[in-house]
Amino acid sequence: MAKARVAVLISGRGSNMAALVYAARREDCPFEIVLVASNDPEAAGLKLAAAEGIQTFAKSHKGIPRAEFDAVITGEIKRAKADFVALAGYMRLLSAEFTSAWAGRAINIHPSLLPRYKGLHTHEAALMAGDKVAGCSVHIVTAELDDGPVLGQTEVAILPGDTPETLADRVLIAEHQLYSRVLADFVTRDSRPEAMLENLRERALAFPAAYEKLSHGMPVFGVEGGKMFAYFTRDHHGDGITAVLVKISGIEEQAMLIENDPARYYRPAYFGDSWIGVRLDLGDTDWDHIGDWVRKSWMLAAPSKVRKAFDLADEF
Ligand code: GRF
Repeated sequence: MAKARVAVLISGRGSNMAALVYAARREDCPFEIVLVASNDPEAAGLKLAAAEGIQTFAKSHKGIPRAEFDAVITGEIKRAKADFVALAGYMRLLSAEFTSAWAGRAINIHPSLLPRYKGLHTHEAALMAGDKVAGCSVHIVTAELDDGPVLGQTEVAILPGDTPETLADRVLIAEHQLYSRVLADFVTRDSRPEAMLENLRERALAFPAAYEKLSHGMPVFGVEGGKMFAYFTRDHHGDGITAVLVKISGIEEQAMLIENDPARYYRPAYFGDSWIGVRLDLGDTDWDHIGDWVRKSWMLAAPSKVRKAFDLADEF
């Protein structure tokens, strides 16, 4: 499967960025770092990224309106064809334009156990409060600073005599471990079978009279008074495949689909000529297209009364 392309934004040392870069070296890492960008041309992390052969971009934000500067950064991220953004010590408040452009595709690492201690000086705050544990969090970036849904956290014990610096050093170790793990989960979340089933379920159950049941351990969607119209298959008999099986017109359509795109379409064993298997695990699933398949299949499975009512509703 193609690796997710990630742009990392930094402002300084860039040790979290480096941790992501080295995690991405593993062959089975689901992401690659395609750009390291900074709002500070002096950021030490830029040199490291360049030395590791990663494309870099730097431009000082000074004197440039926030949204305008963020548009430059977005332009660079898009030019690098990155799908995701990882903030790693990026010391700029983000514009609403930026957070909405990357909504659901940008994450940040923060050195506290959120929701405690947003913003700066988190370690001082934890020590002042007399906390027993500090830690770090990775969260989805939203319009509010350090506020989006938390995806992962690591607790770090506070030791007697800890200073903000000694604590920061240990939390940083935890950060380096946490970030790549959470990023890997984040970029693969839509391609996990559970997420695919959820996506399929939402589409299938949106049709009139649709219901779900289990058949031989397989989630299947049917129409009341009619037939089954979509099966979700996952590693059936250990075949390692995640796919949806939908009804089609017959053997000719089946043969044509398989001939045109043999990687995606297959004849499902024991289902006969009027079903086609559509793989969901190739990393490039067009879910609207899957929705069209499910719709056609529902049409073939629905009793004519239900279908006619739906046809009519559809015309308006
Ligand atoms: C880290 O502590 C990170 O959690 C915070 O800024 C620091 C950046 O360090 N957002 P580095 O540049 O990744 O070394």
